[in-house]
Amino acid sequence: MNRKIKNRIVILGAAIIFVLLALGAFTYFKNKQTKSIIHEEVNSKKISTGEIIAEKNSDPTPSQDNQNEKEHTPKTTDPQNDINIEKSPTSIPDDQKWALILVNSTHPLTEELAIKTVKIGDISVDTRIAPYVNQLIAAAKEEGIGLGVISGYRTISRQKELYDEKCNYWKKQGLSDEQAKEKACHYVAIPGQSEHNSGLAIDFSSTSNPSANLTETFESTKEGKFVKEHAPKFGFILRYPKGKEDITKVVYEPWHFRFVGPLAIKIIDSGLVFDEYWEKNLSLCFK
Ligand code: DAL
Ligand code: ZN
Repeated sequence: MNRKIKNRIVILGAAIIFVLLALGAFTYFKNKQTKSIIHEEVNSKKISTGEIIAEKNSDPTPSQDNQNEKEHTPKTTDPQNDINIEKSPTSIPDDQKWALILVNSTHPLTEELAIKTVKIGDISVDTRIAPYVNQLIAAAKEEGIGLGVISGYRTISRQKELYDEKCNYWKKQGLSDEQAKEKACHYVAIPGQSEHNSGLAIDFSSTSNPSANLTETFESTKEGKFVKEHAPKFGFILRYPKGKEDITKVVYEPWHFRFVGPLAIKIIDSGLVFDEYWEKNLSLCFK
């Protein structure tokens, strides 16, 4: 091989290495930038108002519980986990506490909250969490997965309608009033005890297999698998997992996710359900 050809090979090799290095650097800085944008979003006033917005719910109509989502915001996110609750309860900024309130049978809401909502499709969703819901849906869409929203914010009075319907169902099955109430609350929370009343819960749905919606088989749909795997990156946790019914007092609901913000991954990694995690790590912040 003569010297000229050798030189060309060396130059070509150097050019390829340069292009690969440039591509690597570009990807690295792009990812870094995306993460810091998300970090700012989660921690900024953009969604973290930290207070109940005294505005009337836009349209808490009964139909909101049975519709699929249609609009997506084409943007991905990855809430960063920088709240160091082990250090001190005061390390949770006041303007992020709204996302960490506990709502369950022992921590009911005592009055109707006037949550400000936006529509995602036909569903009313709390404005504070809607950007994250849209980003999760958009991330699913990028993979060809039709994740939808079937229920978002519900007033306590709407919750009462749903709870009464469930009680009536069990009464028709032959249970007494008391037995029906005791049975129903494991499926539909008692009014004021539902996270939907706080605006922080979302029931996700499958567009590929709508018959699986609000049933255990949702977990086997591609939407159910996607949301389980990716929701924490967007600030959501599976709230009523299988095997934790004794603690949550609610049956396994693979569709019901609860927004907690930047602590989502830490909570999932703890192996605790939110009730347990809250009592152990967060209750002091709310005293
Ligand atoms: N289905 C859940 C428990 C709720 O009603 O909030
Ligand atoms: Zn739900």
